[in-house]
Amino acid sequence: MFYRADEAHDLPFDPFKAIVAPRPIGWIGTLNADGVPNLGPYSFFAALSSRPHMIGFSSEGLKHSPRNARDRGEFTFSLATLALAGAMNASSASLPDGANEFAAAGLEMGRSRVIAAPFVRDSPAALECKTVHFMELTDINGRATDRFFIVGQVVAVHIRDEFIVDGRFDTARAQPLSRAGYQDYATVAEVWEMRRPG
Ligand SMILES: Cc1cc2nc3c(=O)[nH]c(=O)nc-3n(C[C@H](O)[C@H](O)[C@H](O)COP(=O)(O)O)c2cc1C
Repeated sequence: MFYRADEAHDLPFDPFKAIVAPRPIGWIGTLNADGVPNLGPYSFFAALSSRPHMIGFSSEGLKHSPRNARDRGEFTFSLATLALAGAMNASSASLPDGANEFAAAGLEMGRSRVIAAPFVRDSPAALECKTVHFMELTDINGRATDRFFIVGQVVAVHIRDEFIVDGRFDTARAQPLSRAGYQDYATVAEVWEMRRPG
C-alpha cells in the first residue's frame, strides 16, 4: 500500500509507531519547581551523540517532564527493563503536577551526585543530564506543533555492579524494554556481534 502522510489511509490505526520500532524508552526523572520528584516514560527518545554524550526526548504537549527539564535545567534517564515494566507503565499515569510519581509507581529513588533530579534506583543503569536544548518543533510550513524536544548532555553515569560483566555493560542481562506500535513492547534478551569493515 501507499499513502501520503497528509491523506487518509484505510488502516484501523496509524502504523507510524509500529514502523519506527522498537524505540528505546526514555524514563525521565525530574524535579518540579517545588522540588517534588516526577517520573515519566517517553518513547520518542534517542541517544543523539557521543563525546559529548547527548540524549533527547520529545513530548506531545508540554508535559511535566519537558517543563521540569527546561525550568530546572536537568533530568535523569533510567533504563526501563522487563523487570521494571509494570512500574514503568504505572509511571505514565497522568497525575497532577506535584504528585511524586516515583512513590506512586512504587519505586525507590536513586540519589544523583552531579544534579538534583533523582533516578530509578533499581534500574540497571541511569544517566544524569543537564539540559542543553529545549525547543518547540515546527512543521514543514513553519507552524508550531505543540511537540517539544529536549536534549540533555550526560554529566554522570550510574551502573549497578551486577550488570558489568568482563568490563562491559551486559545489555542482554539488563533486558531493556522497548516500545513498538499499538500497545506492543519488545525486550532485548539476546545480543549478537557484527564487526564493521576495515
Ligand atoms: C512506553 C510509553 C512511552 C511513552 N512515550 C511518550 C512520548 O514519547 N511522548 C509523550 O508525549 N508521551 C509519551 N507517553 C505518555 C507519557 O508517559 C504520559 O503522558 C505521562 O503522564 C507523562 O508524564 P509527565 O507529565 O510526568 O512527564 C508514553 C507512555 C508510555 C507508557
